Amino acid sequence: MTVESVRPETHPRPEAQPREASELREPPLAGGGVPLLGHGWKLVRDPLAFMAALRDHGDVVRLKLGPKTVYAVTTPELTGALALSTDFKIDGPLWESLEGLLGKEGVATANGPRHRRQRRTIQPAFRLDAIPEYGPIMEEEAHALTERWKPGETVDCTSESFRIAVRIAARCLLRGEYMDERAERLCNALATVFRGMYRRMVVPLGPLYKLPLPPNREFNRALADLHLLVDEIVAERRASGQRPDDLLTALLEAKDENGEPIGEQEIHDQVVAIVTPGSETVASTIMWLLHVLAEHPEHADKVCAEVESVTGGRPVAFADVRSLRHTNNVVVEAMRLRPAVWILTRRAVTDTSLGGYRIPAGADIVYSPYAIQRDGKSYAHSLEFDPDRWLPERVKDVPKYAMSPFSVGNRKCPSDHFSMAQLTLITAALATKYRFEQVSGSNDATRVGITLRPHRLLLRPVPRD
Ligand code: HEM
Repeated sequence: MTVESVRPETHPRPEAQPREASELREPPLAGGGVPLLGHGWKLVRDPLAFMAALRDHGDVVRLKLGPKTVYAVTTPELTGALALSTDFKIDGPLWESLEGLLGKEGVATANGPRHRRQRRTIQPAFRLDAIPEYGPIMEEEAHALTERWKPGETVDCTSESFRIAVRIAARCLLRGEYMDERAERLCNALATVFRGMYRRMVVPLGPLYKLPLPPNREFNRALADLHLLVDEIVAERRASGQRPDDLLTALLEAKDENGEPIGEQEIHDQVVAIVTPGSETVASTIMWLLHVLAEHPEHADKVCAEVESVTGGRPVAFADVRSLRHTNNVVVEAMRLRPAVWILTRRAVTDTSLGGYRIPAGADIVYSPYAIQRDGKSYAHSLEFDPDRWLPERVKDVPKYAMSPFSVGNRKCPSDHFSMAQLTLITAALATKYRFEQVSGSNDATRVGITLRPHRLLLRPVPRD
């Protein structure tokens, strides 16, 4: 495994399976539904266990969510076919609720020609050869984190992980020293917005969220501040007259399909659509990496030994990341067992099929990278934390698309190299400076939100010598 790619493409793409409509079967209905609510109550009560059990019912299964039928895809091969097929687009309740809050014109929710154009604009900032330029900021932030933490004092991993994730995304992609103060505000606003967004998605009480209650007011304030911050960042860059070679300049100078400059709203929504997924996902993954360092001291020691063998004892640098094979494998294995993005949805744009099953136009499809990446049919001892399963001689046993935490196809996360580089560097910096212990009051149970993260991870850093 390399930082370039979590799962290299070594097999041919799954082919679409053109069949006569009459040959197509109706997917089986998953068991355990109840009148009126269907499978909804199970999905709300224990979504991870529910999604993980679906493969026993079939490769594609029908779920009843109230009156609505949703199709769940349960095998790695079919999730790959779904992500790569043009018969499906980004849409469905998850995306609608994101659009309502974060804006309709950003890359994460666009489809068709607009989406292709927007990807062309943002892609250069995330290309493999663009990442080394971010190296000094990633290094600075990783070491600053270890310096902030005082031996023996309790670290609240949620706020600290969020903080470094936002700072790295904002400082690397939007640039400028003024980002230091803004990154703090972004961080606070995003934490509240994400909490509220998840609540609104799982408990859709519509008008109740408009009442002037303290949690609603806090959510609205945070959302307004997020949008205000983005406006400030854009206005300040414009006023500076500078055009550094970065993502913000690319967005400010982007042209639409007719060669006209894109509108203000699109610029705004694009910045939101990049910074928001970028911070929550990385922050959640850092929390799980801290958890791994605390709960698997043998791997923490191995990471430390690897880093020291590469650096000879000097502080780890961005340029070392490529040589840190075991550290990288620890990151990949943590992402396998606790993928930040644990559920994804699509909508069929036409009558189509998946694995010989009929999927009608307009149907919502759902799949869970969490379920796929923990499946015993794909991984030996699937629930064990075993970074060595990513060694070159073993990685070939992993079925294609059984490890796609950044997804595949045209919606693949643009930030896979950017994320892997910072996660590996942060893990290396933390493991060489400290051992970690959970302290009383820490709750490492999985909290299911827009991403997966520990409920409240509290750690005590203990200096290594
Ligand atoms: C551990 C880190 C991350 C993980 C696991 C992750 C995962 C994902 C996944 C699975 C998708 C695809 C969604 C789909 O197929 O429907 C996605 C899309 C996206 N991610 Fe990430 N992501 C991470 C970090 C980031 C960062 C750091 C940024 C930006 C700074 C970012 C920006 C985006 C954007 C803009 C999209 C939408 C792409 C499109 O629709 O074309 N992500 N991410």
